[in-house]
Amino acid sequence: MYFRQAPGSHPAQYLGRLRMPRKKVIAGNWKMYKTPEQTVAFLHDFLPEVKGHTRDEIVIAPPYIDLYAAVQASEGSNVAIGAQDVCWREECALTGEISSGMLLSVGCTHVIIGHSERRQFFAETDDIVNLKLKAALEAGLVPIVCVGEVLEEREAGLTEDVLRRQCMRAFSTISAAKAAKMIVAYEPVWAIGTGKTATPQMASDAHVIVRAEAAKAFGQEFADNLRILYGGSVKPDNAKTLMAEQEIDGALVGGASLDPKSFAAIVKY
Ligand code: 13P
Repeated sequence: MYFRQAPGSHPAQYLGRLRMPRKKVIAGNWKMYKTPEQTVAFLHDFLPEVKGHTRDEIVIAPPYIDLYAAVQASEGSNVAIGAQDVCWREECALTGEISSGMLLSVGCTHVIIGHSERRQFFAETDDIVNLKLKAALEAGLVPIVCVGEVLEEREAGLTEDVLRRQCMRAFSTISAAKAAKMIVAYEPVWAIGTGKTATPQMASDAHVIVRAEAAKAFGQEFADNLRILYGGSVKPDNAKTLMAEQEIDGALVGGASLDPKSFAAIVKY
């Protein structure tokens, strides 16, 4: 099915060109919550809630130690399992790290890369994000690359510069063919875990910037098909409004993904 984009006022919108509708992705990032036992209990309650839901792709990213249990418990369902991070190296002597091959071996299909908590608290740089993105793509994982500005940057009017830099450096020296599976998540850091959500307009404006950077790196067609998720205090009561935005192709949900009922309500926005 094709549809014609409504003409918009933003210069980066591509007036009158045809493109495929983008299937939305609703992803849960559990961060450092839940044991394997709690993971299985969550899926026991969550899977029946979303059974037969095909409108959106559903992904859950539990901590590493829960991945095996999560894959087993969700087998044959419409829920994919992702990791929250990955090392850029293949198996080698690196204490505490996990490789893409290891993630694949337990049945993981997705991986979050460059989350702001890793950038802020674990010194992850744009260059590391780029290395991890390359490794994940090379292995055949679906990377969800996170970008987003901190409050001081937004207040200083630097949001666009920050997003452009993060995208440009994350996408560096990757071909469009290699990047095909990539998803990007725009997560304004000031909206994460704070209960403050970006307005749909703020999120849309940021997504337009990310899409324009993707067009520069990979071409317009790639950018037209790129899914850009919004993350930052997405809850059952604001999901519908956010998902109604043409530029928003899904959500990356933290806190509200920990409860089966609340995450199912977001999936069914
Ligand atoms: P919250 O939904 O808890 O704000 O977290 C967002 C996030 O960081 C998802 O990756």
